[in-house]
Amino acid sequence: MLPSEPKIFHGRETELTKILALFSQGTPRIAILGAGGMGKTSLARAVIHRTEVIHLYGQYRHFVACDSATNKVELAALVGAHLGLKPGPDLTWAVVNHFSNNPRGLLILDNLETVWEPTELRPEIEEFLSLLTDVDHLALIITMRGAERPLKVCWSHPFLPPLEPLDQDAAQKMFLDIAGGTHDPTEVEKILALTDNMYGIFDE
Ligand SMILES: Nc1ncnc2c1ncn2[C@@H]1O[C@H](COP(=O)(O)OP(=O)(O)O)[C@@H](O)[C@H]1O
Ligand SMILES: [Mg+2]
Repeated sequence: MLPSEPKIFHGRETELTKILALFSQGTPRIAILGAGGMGKTSLARAVIHRTEVIHLYGQYRHFVACDSATNKVELAALVGAHLGLKPGPDLTWAVVNHFSNNPRGLLILDNLETVWEPTELRPEIEEFLSLLTDVDHLALIITMRGAERPLKVCWSHPFLPPLEPLDQDAAQKMFLDIAGGTHDPTEVEKILALTDNMYGIFDE
């Protein structure tokens, strides 16, 4: 049920180190933020396959793509379906109870922006996140476009800053992995500059 580890993945050592440090300090609650195409989902997919994380959470690692949810009830239904819960009008409590009654787990809510961006939905989404993080042994990672963290969650300190574009070296490696062949490095640099070092957005 988990997405695969990204096959093309360069750089992000600093972010991985920071995230894994938060895992070693207790139950992490991390928001991976940044502009679209910056690599938030890829980073989350890399984290979920790290040996340290597998060792801590084993089969209780969950990755839920949230793009299709348009409100809290749909979000809870997505998580519930992922957990194999029986469908119902509002699975919020069933989801929370499931995590409470299970051993420690890690939940990744990927691409949460769709449901969080409409300001009128924010209170209910924040309430849902708050209920989830009331479960002491549930680690939570969200990935979301932008630079703002949802309220009502005690995000782990120090906060992970919003992702910046890949450094030059990682961006060159990404380009060569995607484009293949041999290329004039100065030409590659020009292309990368056009995409703020995030050439991978064309690989979607
Ligand atoms: N660290 C990385 N190394 C190589 N390619 C990357 C990296 N991060 C992201 N990409 C590529 O960039 C594109 C966008 O990444 P994605 O993780 O979906 O971004 P986001 O979730 O921030 O919108 C994808 O094609 C992905 O493979
Ligand atoms: Mg994403």
